[in-house]
Amino acid sequence: MSLQWDKRMSSTFLLYGATGYVGQVTARLALDYGLQPILAGRDGIKLEHQGAELGVDYRVASLDDPKALDNALKDVSVVLHCAGPYLHTSKPMVEACLHAGVHYLDLTGEIPVYEAIANRDLEARERRIMLLPGVGFDVVPTDCLAAHLKQRLPSATHLTLAFQTEGPAGLPPGTQRTSIELIPYGNRVRRNGRLEIPDQVQKTRMIDFGKGSMSAVRLTWGDVYTAWYSTGIPNIEVYAVLPKAARNLLAAFVHFRPVLKFAWVRSFLKRFIQPGPSVESRMQTSTHVWGEVVDDQGHIAAARLHGPEAGVIWTTRAALAVVKQVLAGNAPPGFQTPAKAYGPDFVLECEGVTREDLS
Ligand SMILES: NC(=O)c1ccc[n+]([C@@H]2O[C@H](COP(=O)([O-])OP(=O)(O)OC[C@H]3O[C@@H](n4cnc5c(N)ncnc54)[C@H](OP(=O)(O)O)[C@@H]3O)[C@@H](O)[C@H]2O)c1
Repeated sequence: MSLQWDKRMSSTFLLYGATGYVGQVTARLALDYGLQPILAGRDGIKLEHQGAELGVDYRVASLDDPKALDNALKDVSVVLHCAGPYLHTSKPMVEACLHAGVHYLDLTGEIPVYEAIANRDLEARERRIMLLPGVGFDVVPTDCLAAHLKQRLPSATHLTLAFQTEGPAGLPPGTQRTSIELIPYGNRVRRNGRLEIPDQVQKTRMIDFGKGSMSAVRLTWGDVYTAWYSTGIPNIEVYAVLPKAARNLLAAFVHFRPVLKFAWVRSFLKRFIQPGPSVESRMQTSTHVWGEVVDDQGHIAAARLHGPEAGVIWTTRAALAVVKQVLAGNAPPGFQTPAKAYGPDFVLECEGVTREDLS
């Protein structure tokens, strides 16, 4: 957008959840970008160690201590909240940001969290702060692609988004934990502008991400909520190419969902969470995003994005691109989506991302 961050501008931001897998990568990349993260979280010992290693300041604040959070937010204009699952962690930080007048960014993909944050829109406008959840892979690329397609076909009534990971990298631990926490919420699609539980249990669709058609399965993804805000398109579905085991697991969860409402069952599943992907596997992995819009007359527009590994590399680059925008003074107040705040081309600001329009 109009303002560009440069090194003469303020470079300081609060990185909450800095001790986590994604938080640690973000802290290092921020320094590479010439930004000055203040590390924050609930564990003083881990933060002291990390702060000394990186040569940066840190602040200790538990999310259930509003006074400590208020102190942690002193003299910063924006927080990048990297501590999830956000179902449990976003509310206190949003409260603290509204109180302190600090812009709020997070990495959520959880629809109930988007819903809860969107409900604070008016308060955020009054406080002149931006609430922008979902500045990672979920949902920067898909949201920008949706807005791009809407520009190409303004009469669009149906939006389908999909993504495919190519390479060995698995999911970061926090994403695995969040996926387990979200099982009881179940599936959602958007129909006629409303969130609905879809009738068909596991729907698949053949999608060409650039190397021939592949079978992708419909899942619940943040865009079902956010793309409605960014584009106004009333019918939205999201698909992903999943390994066979993950597909089977997804199908099984439908039957076991009543049991998975018990926290102790989800705690048991969390024992199987894998460590985050190694640097090497992340570097060997790429991600492809596909989107299509259709209108009532049968007109179609489609496009693809190609970029780096999603859960860590694309996520941290996108999140820090947003931090730079905010530090440059570009933070429209209220609840925002990435494309609403920064436009469809914003995703191309992330290193290694390309877009192709399909005829
Ligand atoms: N949008 C995307 O595409 C995307 C991509 C990657 C990750 N994510 C999300 O980012 C989040 C972090 O992922 P990760 O892999 O870094 O997870 P992680 O390694 O498990 O780290 C979680 C971090 O959150 C902190 N934390 C957890 N619960 C907390 C609480 N109640 N109060 C204060 N701090 C708390 C942890 O602090 P301690 O060290 O003190 O335990 C740790 O710093 C997850 O929610 C994940 O879903 C999103």
